[in-house]
Amino acid sequence: MLGPNQPVILHMLDIEPAKQALEGVRMELIDAAYPLLVDVIATTDVEVACKDVDIAVMVGGFPRKAGMERKDVMSKNVAIYKSQAAALENNAKKDCKVVVVANPANTNALILKEHAPSIPDENITCLTRLDHNRAIGQLSERSGTHNAKVRNVIIWGNHSSTQYPDVNHATIDGTPARSVINDDGWLDGEFISTVQQRGAAIIKARGFSSALFAGSSACDHIRDWVLGTPEGTFVSMGVMSDGSYGAPKGVIYSYPVTCKDGKWSIVQGLSIDERSAGLMKATGDELVEEKELAMSLL
Ligand code: LMR
Repeated sequence: MLGPNQPVILHMLDIEPAKQALEGVRMELIDAAYPLLVDVIATTDVEVACKDVDIAVMVGGFPRKAGMERKDVMSKNVAIYKSQAAALENNAKKDCKVVVVANPANTNALILKEHAPSIPDENITCLTRLDHNRAIGQLSERSGTHNAKVRNVIIWGNHSSTQYPDVNHATIDGTPARSVINDDGWLDGEFISTVQQRGAAIIKARGFSSALFAGSSACDHIRDWVLGTPEGTFVSMGVMSDGSYGAPKGVIYSYPVTCKDGKWSIVQGLSIDERSAGLMKATGDELVEEKELAMSLL
């Protein structure tokens, strides 16, 4: 996650009933003798877990079960994020980088931001790399091109079924994705709904939400944030909206970003057609609604 030369101390937090299983995970990590793993702190005390951390990957949350929408888990997660934010505020490094994975990820990140005021806004993000990678996977499969050659897809908005996976700036082996795929009907229809619904499809298939893939996407998110995005490539991250591209301000909205020296910047100046603007607005509207609901539960 931090490159091949960065040793890490891993802090793992779980709830009291999972203490024994957590210890089992700690034992496995020691057994694996990872060359970069310096220490493992396994704890059920949120203050201990957050002590002096540089990077916080917030996977804790009430899990979504089959048939539930993200909003259904909101009330449970608002309380969790309020208390974890306070622990980060009091214990983490002041320049701690935070990525929220648990759903509703964008709104959980917003709650965390409200309750960890000394962590800079730009250090609090949510994970939409899942959706970004899923979009790459779909284009790769459809075109028969290796995923490493698919670049610059964009996920706009919420990590939910209203997200807008946008291929209008994407390339496949250097050629615009629309020309390579040559099927606007698929790109504007099934492609979008497949990416939007993939999380739910995984839950239906496995009985649990994405695990390995959520982990690897969180690693991708942090790696690009810390080590930088390759020249000419952008990735999607849920970040505090500054109103760019007409998104509502004051919500965590997924944008195309580039990263350099540990800082992300929203890619500016992309042309947006009318259809895309409508889809970007719809997902922004949902985030405003979620924010209002979350604030009413605080
Ligand atoms: C995913 O996109 O795989 C998850 O966010 C699904 C979920 O709700 O847990």
